[in-house]
Amino acid sequence: MGRSSRDKWDRIYADADWPVPARVVRENEHLLPSRGRALEVACGLGANALLLARRGLAVTAWDLSPVAVERLRRRAESEGLPLRAEVRDVTATPWPPEAWDVIVVSRFLDRSVCAAMRKALKPGGLLLYQTFVRDPVTPAGPSNPAYRLAENELLRLFSGLIVRAYREEGHCGDRCRGWRDEAYLVAQKPM
Ligand SMILES: C[S@@+](CC[C@H](N)C(=O)[O-])C[C@H]1O[C@@H](n2cnc3c(N)ncnc32)[C@H](O)[C@@H]1O
Repeated sequence: MGRSSRDKWDRIYADADWPVPARVVRENEHLLPSRGRALEVACGLGANALLLARRGLAVTAWDLSPVAVERLRRRAESEGLPLRAEVRDVTATPWPPEAWDVIVVSRFLDRSVCAAMRKALKPGGLLLYQTFVRDPVTPAGPSNPAYRLAENELLRLFSGLIVRAYREEGHCGDRCRGWRDEAYLVAQKPM
């Protein structure tokens, strides 16, 4: 991942407001374990990581942007949370195998790391993944279609995991209602 991408995100995060946790986490919080190790990948300001840490999980959060990581670090410190935020290019650094009870990804897609991500889950571990689809209803999200999911693609990228929840509404029915521009998957690694 190039320096220009890092600089772009650093500029965005310098004065960005704190985001809310992703829908995949909010709607499926009841599936999370009460303790263990959790990872947020490409965390940005780490709204998901903060939620996981507030629930008592020991959280690691990785992002390319030093500005985002520093802001997250300070926020976690001020709340006394068990959260370690690290600057890390997730495509360039090896992933430890069977290290995490929970992995969360929101609004980030790099297919080259999906196999490593699956291996990084402990047996019984839970993946919560949400990002933009290629055929949205509004223009929200990245302009490059490579960073968007094809129809049902999360299911294919993480085949072999046990699906616990999946949401992708597409253009079905009344497109003025519902949640259309993203898809989410909650899936568990077999024991
Ligand atoms: C659209 S933002 C999403 C941030 C956060 N997950 C959220 O939902 O608010 C995409 C994030 O991916 C990070 N990112 C992009 N490429 C990355 C890489 N190779 N390794 C780690 N982080 C990366 C960016 O720095 C940015 O924070």
